[in-house]
Amino acid sequence: MKPIFSMNSFEGWNLSLPLIQGGMGVGVSLSGLAGAVAAEGGMGVISTAQIGFEEPDFVGNEEECNLRGIRKHIARAKELSAGRGMVAVNVMVALQQYREHVKEAVRAGADAVICGAGLPIDLPELVEAGKAKIAPIVSSRRAASLILKTWDKKYGRTADFIVAEGPEAGGHLGFSREQLEDIPKIRFAEELTAIMEEKKQYEEKYHKQIPVFAAGGIWDAADAKQIKELGADGIQAATRFVATKECDASLEYKNAYVTAEESGVKIIKSPVGMPGRALNNAFVQKTENTAQRVERCYHCIKNCKPAQIPYCITQALIRAVHGDIENGLVFCGSNVGKIERISTVKEVIEDLMYEKV
Ligand SMILES: Cc1cc2nc3c(=O)[nH]c(=O)nc-3n(C[C@H](O)[C@H](O)[C@H](O)COP(=O)(O)O)c2cc1C
Repeated sequence: MKPIFSMNSFEGWNLSLPLIQGGMGVGVSLSGLAGAVAAEGGMGVISTAQIGFEEPDFVGNEEECNLRGIRKHIARAKELSAGRGMVAVNVMVALQQYREHVKEAVRAGADAVICGAGLPIDLPELVEAGKAKIAPIVSSRRAASLILKTWDKKYGRTADFIVAEGPEAGGHLGFSREQLEDIPKIRFAEELTAIMEEKKQYEEKYHKQIPVFAAGGIWDAADAKQIKELGADGIQAATRFVATKECDASLEYKNAYVTAEESGVKIIKSPVGMPGRALNNAFVQKTENTAQRVERCYHCIKNCKPAQIPYCITQALIRAVHGDIENGLVFCGSNVGKIERISTVKEVIEDLMYEKV
């Protein structure tokens, strides 16, 4: 087997593969999955979104349980990785507790903090230089430019790496609904090239490399090779890691991926205010036209108005990850229909990162 990417851009990093397993909330990528990916030499990512949901006192005490969850899962992932690879967190900027989650993760020893679902304009303020690597998730040159310019001007810092996420990804997406309905016209490859162009000035100014990981719809080594040919340094993949033995979601959730078909995927309007990609299950169909009463608030997203949303996203995601597929929201990438069985993290990594020669 021949590795697709070189490790030239990663001198001094504790990585043997330029692979990030994308953060998946709520509860899909916790320490089990992240620890297994790190143990293979990649970057395993824990999602901090409502990470404390399994704590016995979660309801009514969400903020404290989430901080406790961050500490527990980082410690466990590090233990599972046995010093190999990197353990990172994915913190959504849209979270009410965004700032607290970033700070807690750094205190707990996360190797990197990756932020999307909003522009992490103040991230350098929350992570002391040298404590953990920092990275934004961007879907356009415009977003990359704004973040890098602000970090440079306001903090004299730049990104340690960048995740460039295209329209085929799962979960919340950084594109408008109109753009997503017109996927072939988006030509994300051009945007990816533009993002790589944008970061060059900061590589020169800060005398360091800023590797770019491309994400969204990367299914196998052939896709990864195309990404490499565009000039990216590595990849971030998520959907494929859900149907693995090590993933933290319930067996029912993994089986929903195994039985999913390409036609059973839908772009939904999430209560978070962004479009998202999910399985078009009974829950999605039911909530499309009829709002579900929101009985209690779990304090997840900034600016959420419980009286005006179609359903509570925390509740819908927790139901799904616990296995109540028909009454929950199951996020997925556009490639979910290709998944045929539950495999292992090692098998997925071999499929993605090596050419069979
Ligand atoms: C079930 C699921 C949940 C996700 N949740 C998050 C999240 O909480 N935060 C985030 O930044 N990205 C999230 N994503 C996006 C992934 O991290 C990743 O970038 C993307 O799905 C990559 O595309 P792929 O799934 O086609 O490999 C999620 C994706 C999936 C499939």
